[in-house]
Amino acid sequence: MNIIILGPPGAGKGTQARHLVETRGMVQLSTGDMLREAKTSGSEMGLRVAEVMARGELVTDEIVIGLIHEKILQGGGTGFIFDGFPRTLAQADALGELLEATGQDLDAVIELEVDDETLVKRVVNRAAEAEAAGEPVRADDNAESMRTRLMEYYKKTSPLIGYYYAKGDLSKVDGLAAIDAVQTSIESVLDKVHS
Ligand code: AP5
Ligand code: MG
Repeated sequence: MNIIILGPPGAGKGTQARHLVETRGMVQLSTGDMLREAKTSGSEMGLRVAEVMARGELVTDEIVIGLIHEKILQGGGTGFIFDGFPRTLAQADALGELLEATGQDLDAVIELEVDDETLVKRVVNRAAEAEAAGEPVRADDNAESMRTRLMEYYKKTSPLIGYYYAKGDLSKVDGLAAIDAVQTSIESVLDKVHS
């Protein structure tokens, strides 16, 4: 089973994807994590995109599609969880083509719904907690970058909600509920996919 977790910055995509890795042995593909790893590794691409990410803007389709292409070719155990990808219609088309070319399907798209005020609180809070613990703070976890991240989401990513709704793949989940309640809602959507 291959699924997308779709939602604005701070909606809980990574939190929920990590849970599904544990419960279902699926493979999480987070383009945000891959890009941050590329920065840490000091690769030319990683350093080039780090500033774009810190501002909260999207990096180019070409770069993220390249990253995902490589991972899809490596195979995905019991399935992929696409976390933070696709983020544009061009990326969504590319994903459809990559899955088709490798004989795979997209089984579900879970949209996590959370209001903007809560999103900003979550990421600002995460930065404060990391700082207090002496851990690295994400360069885009601040109110200013968060404004850009949200704007990018509404302009470029939210059209995917209609795109996947029209394909019959979309399920909406209340992302404001407690983490374990969101997990239960997602599990019940996935249980219905093949029944
Ligand atoms: P990316 O890394 O994908 O970040 P994001 O989506 O902007 O935001 P987060 O990862 O913070 O949100 P999340 O939904 O995963 O929430 P999380 O579980 O962490 O992208 C970063 C950047 O990389 C982009 O801005 C762009 O520059 C670039 N990029 C990445 N992919 C790209 C692509 N495909 N195309 C172009 N550019 C791309 O949770 C957030 C916080 O809330 C945590 O502290 C968590 O503990 C808490 N929380 C989670 N769920 C709950 C809950 N139910 N109740 C209370 N708290 C909760
Ligand atoms: Mg994330």
